[in-house]
Amino acid sequence: MKVTQDLLADVAEVLLTEEQIAGKVAELGQRISADYAGRELTLVSVLKGSLPFMADLMRRISLPLRIDLMEVSSYGGTGTESSGLVRILKDLSAPIEGRDVLLVEDIIDTGLTLNYLIRYLKGKNPRSIKVCSLLDKPARRLVEIPIDYVGFEIPDAFVVGYGLDFGEVYRNLRFVGVLRPEAYES
Ligand code: PRP
Repeated sequence: MKVTQDLLADVAEVLLTEEQIAGKVAELGQRISADYAGRELTLVSVLKGSLPFMADLMRRISLPLRIDLMEVSSYGGTGTESSGLVRILKDLSAPIEGRDVLLVEDIIDTGLTLNYLIRYLKGKNPRSIKVCSLLDKPARRLVEIPIDYVGFEIPDAFVVGYGLDFGEVYRNLRFVGVLRPEAYES
């Protein structure tokens, strides 16, 4: 993969603007604040893609909460396809037993990563476990996952930005855009 110098030149189309994302994150934060009032909320961010979403979402939730971070990688797949085999690179740093856990994801594609993570975290005896994903790409789903909070349903396009990468690049774009085929075919 060539190292791109002009991130914007590789974007064919802006799918979600910075403003659209900010509006949706505020709306999700309000809903979560209402739903979890009086509960012991822990937000668990699944790195690295969910980093910008987590940072924005947590500041739109008006409740006392804890955050924790996990990092996983799927292995055995290709650069663009999950295999369903998940390796934990970084585990939770605090127990979640008895707590209400909300998993924060940037995108749900095949659902395999989350399917694994939900089962893994249930083994730690949280009081509840729910999912909040900024993006949902239902066309690619292989396993059904209950997504409790969804930002946007998107078509089956190769998207980057606001945390989402291709080859670890483009995560710092402030919008979500569709990558030009030339950028990932080269
Ligand atoms: C992305 C995303 C989810 C997963 C979704 O992570 O953040 O964790 O893929 O795909 P799935 O539904 O097909 O399992 P990725 O493995 O690209 O790692 P990253 O967050 O570090 O970019």
